[in-house]
Amino acid sequence: MSVKQIQEEILKLKKRSDTIILAHYYQPIEIQEIADHLGDSLGLSRLAKETNSEYIVFAGVDFMAETASILNQDKHVLIPNPESCCPMAAYLTAQKVRDFKSQYPNLPVVVYVNSTAETKAESNICCTSSNAARIVKRISESGNTDAVLFGPDANLADYAEQKSGIKCIKMPEKGNCYVHSQLTIEDMKKIKAQYPNSQILVHPECIREVRELADFVGSTAQMYNLVKKSNNNNSEFCIGTERGLLERMTQDFPNKEFHLIHEKLLCYNMKKNTIELMRYVLDHLDDPMFEVKVPPEIAKRALRPIEKMLEYS
Ligand code: 13P
Ligand code: SF4
Repeated sequence: MSVKQIQEEILKLKKRSDTIILAHYYQPIEIQEIADHLGDSLGLSRLAKETNSEYIVFAGVDFMAETASILNQDKHVLIPNPESCCPMAAYLTAQKVRDFKSQYPNLPVVVYVNSTAETKAESNICCTSSNAARIVKRISESGNTDAVLFGPDANLADYAEQKSGIKCIKMPEKGNCYVHSQLTIEDMKKIKAQYPNSQILVHPECIREVRELADFVGSTAQMYNLVKKSNNNNSEFCIGTERGLLERMTQDFPNKEFHLIHEKLLCYNMKKNTIELMRYVLDHLDDPMFEVKVPPEIAKRALRPIEKMLEYS
């Protein structure tokens, strides 16, 4: 069966039930093409909060589907491949957060959504890559502190600290994303030399030295919106995030030119969801194997920091 045929079948299957498909920009392009909504972590959390659909098929990694499930405890949230998980979450266990809290009892705890539900449950507020600096600033103002505890991404902590002027104590010192943290100064210099007229866009999960060589730092949706708003039809962009976003923008903006800063910008975890698994899930919506459920006690405690983030964004 061709990809096109599978996509058509998915759309037919979807009509049999009250289902919405949400997908992240890093998903394989054939999944992005059949999604009802595409977005970054923050946008997808907002959509998950607003939807009335009974079934939410979430094409992304585990923490995104878990967040949707926490926001929709009365609905069914399904992930096409339950093994699609973000390894960054493993850097910060709930116990580690408790240890930091006992060391710094007066500081608010900001937890990046790329974390487990148990870890979120220990925080005062969550953040995503698009609102980290704003969240850090607001939570420190409301707690009247000049520092916060921040984890698990040390690069995002550094970026939020630079932008907000509030000290972000890293939990732990070196949490990172294996995709973005691979980009080097040499990669940046090379791409700039190759495409001197292009704008270089990178994700805040990149290391500081890489961010400093970029023209723009932002989340996936912020990069997408910048490209969309750029008036010059023939503009050229070098993309420093997972290649799925470049594939999306290549389709949506055919008059603009895109270059991936490096081939290594590939998240294997995001690509564990396949169009075939999507078809299977749509045909087996009540199979518990695909359902993402957070224990109610943890969901209740993790809901508060997620909702607070949405309120502050
Ligand atoms: P966004 O906040 O841009 O969706 O990023 C999520 C992510 O996993 C980055 O690697
Ligand atoms: Fe996690 Fe990095 Fe993949 Fe994003 S790109 S889901 S942070 S491993």
